[in-house]
Amino acid sequence: MAETKSLAVVGGGQMGSGIAQLGAMHGLHVWLLDTDSAALSRATKSISSSLQRFVSKGQLSQAARTEALKRLKCTSNIEDLRSADFVVEAIVESEDVKKKLFIELDKITKSSAILASNTSSISITRLATATSRPRQVIGMHFMNPPPVMKLVEIIRGADTSDETYHATKALAERFRKTVICSQDYSGFIVNRILMPMINEAFITLYTGVATKEDIDTGMKLGTNHPMGPLELADFIGLDVCLSIMRVLHTGLGDSKYAPCPLLVQYVDAGRVGRKCGIGVYDYRKQSPRL
Ligand code: 3HC
Repeated sequence: MAETKSLAVVGGGQMGSGIAQLGAMHGLHVWLLDTDSAALSRATKSISSSLQRFVSKGQLSQAARTEALKRLKCTSNIEDLRSADFVVEAIVESEDVKKKLFIELDKITKSSAILASNTSSISITRLATATSRPRQVIGMHFMNPPPVMKLVEIIRGADTSDETYHATKALAERFRKTVICSQDYSGFIVNRILMPMINEAFITLYTGVATKEDIDTGMKLGTNHPMGPLELADFIGLDVCLSIMRVLHTGLGDSKYAPCPLLVQYVDAGRVGRKCGIGVYDYRKQSPRL
């Protein structure tokens, strides 16, 4: 199994920039691709400030930060991904859009390259069918924020080879993550359990059982979660939570996964969480977080 030396990340949002940062911090040459140049400049700022947080805590030297930033290159040209050993896709959660990207990646990247998806719930087996190399397609699901969270969930599609699995596991371990492995069923492990809990928090709010603050305080102090479920939903993005609930509902065919009408209404209203300034809570008066 050849060692991964160069990484390409597609998608300069919170997840993509966090994954690109991990690669650069752990000695890989990284291309970060996004068609939107504004997204790339936001990603560069957030990576630079996240690396600085590690420096302030004494977990990274200033020299290592500078080296990491040098190893990271941003681009809007997919052709730059030609020489990547390993590609992680972290774009919008739409099967059609992801499939189109996988078709392009399959054409452009070298035949030995592994194509991984950071999808939170879309079938890896179906994404793999868009390529001529289903044995080299895998799910590599990071948790938000990727530089901090200790887990990577690896999802094997129906045809993923053992070699691809071991290369992906080795890469996650290089990033000092603990790996769990899931079969390819809707929501995998983490979101299959987490999203119904978040949805239930919305139902608790919607049916007037308690206030948002009491629901979050209950779960924070009552079960030692770092964030309450509604606060966490705002952090993940209500649109992302809704789309995962829909995948669970369709894929597992059980009415227990039906999205709460309040969650649907917030998304319809454009209240998608911290990234737009308002979700369950209103963040517009707070200073922006990177
Ligand atoms: N880069 C570097 N360090 C960071 C960081 C970043 N982007 N974000 C936070 N940190 C560090 C801080 O420096 C701090 O370190 P310290 O404790 O050593 O001083 C620590 O993380 C805590 O950060 P803050 O004090 O700024 O803020 P919080 O205490 O609010 O922590 C949090 C932020 C780490 C996000 C914490 O609230 C948390 O763990 N929340 C739950 C997150 C979670 O559950 N994520 C998974 C969501 S599910 C998912 O991603 C799947 C997807 O498919 C939907």
